[in-house]
Amino acid sequence: MRTDIAQIVRLEDYRPSDFLIDRVELDVRLHPTATRVTATLSLRPNPKGRADAPLVLDGDEVSLTSVALDGRPLPDSEFEASPQSLTITQPPRGPFTLTIETEIDPTSNTKLMGLYRSSGNYCTQCEAEGFRRITYFLDRPDVMAVYTTRIEADKDEAPVLLGNGNRIEAGEIAGTGRHYAVWHDPHPKPSYLFALVGGRLGRVGKTFRTMGGREVELAIYVEAGKESRADYALDALERSMRWDERVFGREYDLDVFNIVAVSDFNMGAMENKGLNIFNDKYVLASPETATDVDYANIEAIIAHEYFHNWSGNRVTCRDWFQLCLKEGLTVFRDQEFSSDERSRPVHRIAEVKTLRARQFLEDASPLSHPVRPTQYREINNFYTATVYEKGAEIVRMLKTIIGPEDFRRGMDLYFERCDGTAATVEDFLAAFAEVTGHDLSHFARWYAQAGTPRVTVTGTYDPAAKTYRLDFTQATPPTPGQPDKEPMAIPVALGLVSRDGEPLQAASDRVSPQGVFLLDKAADSLAFTGVTSQPVPSLFREFSAPVRTSLDLSNEELLVLLRHDSDAFNRWQATQTVAMRLLVAQAKGDAVADSDLADLASALCAFMEADALDDPAFAALVLALPSEADIAQEIGRDIDPDAIHHARKAMRRRIGQACRETLHRFRDSLAERGPYSPDAASAGRRALRNASLDLLAAADAALGEQLAVEQVDDAGNMTDRLAALGVLMTLPGDAREAALARFEERYRDEPLVLDKWFTLQAAIPEDGTLERVRRLMEHQAFAIGNPNRVRALVGSFAMLNQVRFNAKDGSGYDFLADIVLQVDELNPQLAARLLTSFSSWRMMEKTRQTHAKNALQRIAGKPNLSRDVGDIAARSLE
Ligand code: ARG
Ligand code: ZN
Repeated sequence: MRTDIAQIVRLEDYRPSDFLIDRVELDVRLHPTATRVTATLSLRPNPKGRADAPLVLDGDEVSLTSVALDGRPLPDSEFEASPQSLTITQPPRGPFTLTIETEIDPTSNTKLMGLYRSSGNYCTQCEAEGFRRITYFLDRPDVMAVYTTRIEADKDEAPVLLGNGNRIEAGEIAGTGRHYAVWHDPHPKPSYLFALVGGRLGRVGKTFRTMGGREVELAIYVEAGKESRADYALDALERSMRWDERVFGREYDLDVFNIVAVSDFNMGAMENKGLNIFNDKYVLASPETATDVDYANIEAIIAHEYFHNWSGNRVTCRDWFQLCLKEGLTVFRDQEFSSDERSRPVHRIAEVKTLRARQFLEDASPLSHPVRPTQYREINNFYTATVYEKGAEIVRMLKTIIGPEDFRRGMDLYFERCDGTAATVEDFLAAFAEVTGHDLSHFARWYAQAGTPRVTVTGTYDPAAKTYRLDFTQATPPTPGQPDKEPMAIPVALGLVSRDGEPLQAASDRVSPQGVFLLDKAADSLAFTGVTSQPVPSLFREFSAPVRTSLDLSNEELLVLLRHDSDAFNRWQATQTVAMRLLVAQAKGDAVADSDLADLASALCAFMEADALDDPAFAALVLALPSEADIAQEIGRDIDPDAIHHARKAMRRRIGQACRETLHRFRDSLAERGPYSPDAASAGRRALRNASLDLLAAADAALGEQLAVEQVDDAGNMTDRLAALGVLMTLPGDAREAALARFEERYRDEPLVLDKWFTLQAAIPEDGTLERVRRLMEHQAFAIGNPNRVRALVGSFAMLNQVRFNAKDGSGYDFLADIVLQVDELNPQLAARLLTSFSSWRMMEKTRQTHAKNALQRIAGKPNLSRDVGDIAARSLE
């Protein structure tokens, strides 16, 4: 028997709530297995709702103790209760209060939604629909209330008690060993932003003075003893607050801002009003335990959650279809912050790599959906790369099209007009339409139409007339539910580059002063006059639109861009394109001229000799070839992961051999001097030095092993130690196993570090890896209920290990299916996430496809599947 997953929520069915809740008073008496919650809700009929409607409150696994209306206990005949809902059949026609007592069990809450325990501490996660696991409620984002929360707990068990807003009262309950705190949040908010924490926690803090002169106490709470590891996060928080004031004019609005790090968390972090709760992986860092990438992620996620205070909390979403309204915008804001704090081109390349690896992949899969979906069965399955990353690209394109000044004016208007409301994508676009006078209805298609557009461009030069013409066409492939596509409004930032490196002054009246051409038809041409020599076009500078491109440029022309383009993104893109062409041809077994490989290698060596040390972080990105997954995506059908693996390995060897001397020189000249610092410039030097090690090892295994073993043992920081250990993963043998054992010994009591150790091993592209992963699941540090552990080991196997996950005998798929079913019984969200690694199964060659399909069908056919997993399995098979 199948679980019922048929219930579909549709955007077109939206209607306002029949009731509103103005105030919520919560009394939460924490207890490990029997927490008692008393909710007093001040309700009134919504003038925009239906007149005679019953009051139907949402619930999820809550058990009702009592319910009273205006203080009068309700008899059974006047309500209906189940774990999923509480219905008051004949509610009053005017304002009234409802007092609901419920009991919940935080210890057995393995879904990590609602109130649960992590390492003995109490914490909550309510987005999207977790508040209904705490009490019965109108659990939808357009019902906004002022919350007062009294939290009571055993003093030993939970000396720290935190809630949303400001603390207004605290005290002891004499003779009971218990104490309490009362928190009040004056800003009306939806229930998904509710949070509370109770536990034994260490604290770091400082005072921040806002631009308006308000003093705010900033604090980060972590596992006691790890306080110093929160210093970097605290610093990032302060910088985020300053940046949002300077760049967006946004000021913080409470007396305190608290962050709590917990070890069991489904996502990265959560922007609860005044009380952000984080996966500890994105808070805790020390040079000994965290890599440069960890530091950068911490900075970005701290900023992201803080920025939600305006884009998400002050202005929230009317319904969950509008999720991109807060997430796309907030990702855009955190990306801008990181670009300003670090290197803009380097950061842009990193963003685009993620976008292609995750969002383009999703868009090419059966799970493809619009940035604003029109229907869902389980909203948790829509916290996707499309909503977040493509959502951010839409905001970026809007800024590119209207320019920075109008963009800022539009943002100001949006915040001003929508402050305190639950808004829609239409409200957002209306602000920009108003300040610019533009009609943005064509642009709005980016929210509605799924799929990655492909833009094809050909260039024609007429030396006699000194004209150059670019002919563009665009097409978007069909996606589930959308067989036919309309043309999109695509900003193409471009320039022309001459072959000798001189910038070309060419005129075209259809290119804006900022160098942007708007392609909004299925086909269009752009003519330039006064072009004195055959140019090389540099298109989609800074990746101005989330599209795939086909350009009729030769490898030689692309390598001109590597040398001469003023746009750093396209210098990087040019080498990626050349490498990708050669890798695809080799993986498909097509003939590849040796001279083509030699040309790429020598262009890379020449670039490194001349320019690498000017910007080591950028150089490291140029040296990194497209990943196996990127290559698979480019091939798109009939994929053989083994052939891709071998092609990539051969090219790395080739480049390592050709550039050997330069790489050795980088090893010496970039060696760390002085203490570790996580700043972008230092991280860039480490990245180039470690990329050099990786290529040297690809060219010469014995040398690579020697250098890597030395570095694993002598490194002064985790970045270098882990990079070297990663190199050893490509070199089977005793040295590798011994290094892994020493690493484990050293970090035995550091779960976040052991996660890295799990990940490296799960990605080893060798026959024995599946057995190794099974063995590691027995490791003392592994826990099937902890999302970080499961993602580090099982998730990495599925997402990073193309050859073993897609093993031809189907063993990788079967393993993942077993784990998905096992995890589903504890934590459906986590299980559904793991299951998305099947998303490109239809692109595989026949044998693998058959195995993948069988595994998916086995999952889909399992009785009592969660809605989360049932939905992903069903859509993957559609
Ligand atoms: N709003 C959070 C963030 O992006 C994500 C929370 C998602 N949680 C969930 N259970 N789906 O900052
Ligand atoms: Zn977010």
